Amino acid sequence: MTTDEKYINRCFELAANGLGTTYPNPLVGCVIVKNDSILAEGWHRKAGEPHAERMAISRVSNPSDLIGATAYVSLEPCSHHGRTPPCADLLISSKIGRVVISNSDRNPKVSGRGIERLRNAGIQVDTDVLREQGEWINRRFFHYQRTRKPYVILKWAESSDGFIDVIRNGNLGSHQISGADSSRWVHQWRSQEQAIAVGKQTVINDNPSLTTRKWVGSDPVPVVIAFRDDVLDRKLSSRKDALWLDDLGFNPQSENPSWDEILGKLGKKEVNSLLVEGGRAVLDELLKTNQWNEIRRLVSKKKQIHQGLKAPDLGQISVAACYENADDQLFIYTSAS
Ligand SMILES: NC(=O)c1ccc[n+]([C@@H]2O[C@H](COP(=O)([O-])OP(=O)(O)OC[C@H]3O[C@@H](n4cnc5c(N)ncnc54)[C@H](OP(=O)(O)O)[C@@H]3O)[C@@H](O)[C@H]2O)c1
Repeated sequence: MTTDEKYINRCFELAANGLGTTYPNPLVGCVIVKNDSILAEGWHRKAGEPHAERMAISRVSNPSDLIGATAYVSLEPCSHHGRTPPCADLLISSKIGRVVISNSDRNPKVSGRGIERLRNAGIQVDTDVLREQGEWINRRFFHYQRTRKPYVILKWAESSDGFIDVIRNGNLGSHQISGADSSRWVHQWRSQEQAIAVGKQTVINDNPSLTTRKWVGSDPVPVVIAFRDDVLDRKLSSRKDALWLDDLGFNPQSENPSWDEILGKLGKKEVNSLLVEGGRAVLDELLKTNQWNEIRRLVSKKKQIHQGLKAPDLGQISVAACYENADDQLFIYTSAS
């Protein structure tokens, strides 16, 4: 690993601290280095709060130490006045000598302009250090910038014999398939995504709360694939932040909207990422139309259901990674697109 890669890698670690809290902004980490020694570090915590570069620079107690130092940043410094002033200007006025960047920003307000501004000021700028790793860390942001739709993660739990639910015969209530460790994983995943979607029948049958109560972090915005009046007296009806199809501007008298339309409407609300927790009809539709980016499939090691609602069929999609805990295996799939 080169010195530049070492510090950019540290930027990634710092950036990851913001996972789940920076939406709709990207994850960014910054390290200020002089004579191969770290002067200060920073990361972007929340939209409206200081960017990573500003946080790092503010932590250098003696401003003259910044003269000629190298700023490592995981994403191209911004050049526009948003909720905070441009970071490129701050780097210039701080007399930073060199800036090393992993990814250029695809946000049209920034793309290439931050780099250009730094170079015009005589600062050496090196780009694309560990570029692919940086793209993976900010995959939700880059996907949103490219498509104006949320990055979609499908998640479900299935029994060892391939069912996601029992036969209901009108019985309501949630039927837990995965174990306690997986529950914590799922709650952690919820804390990392901006929104979480469930289908109408899942709300009726399971009445989920979709919170992160077994993990620290904020709850994602619930998105219910139903109209309000169709699902009364369920937990999500009382969540003021929940988005129902009505809130996305769809008309209950018209045909059910397509997922292309639903994702487009969520994109208009600046939703960068969406965790989809079933049920089967919703998962099937997203799989069939290839509107997903990742799948997290929990498979119980022991629990059998024998007869019930079959898990989605993944056909030829191959596993990207596999983990396990005491009760379950976790298979991860990533979309090629
Ligand atoms: N094991 C797991 O991980 C897991 C996770 C979640 C759920 N589940 C289980 O899955 C079961 C429910 O699955 P399900 O397939 O029956 O139902 P579902 O996917 O939760 O909901 C399907 C219904 O949602 C509505 N819907 C779907 N797409 C829509 C769209 N684009 N626009 C408007 N409405 C749309 C439709 O209602 P209308 O037909 O009325 O329009 C559709 O019948 C539950 O019993 C639950 O326990 C298991």
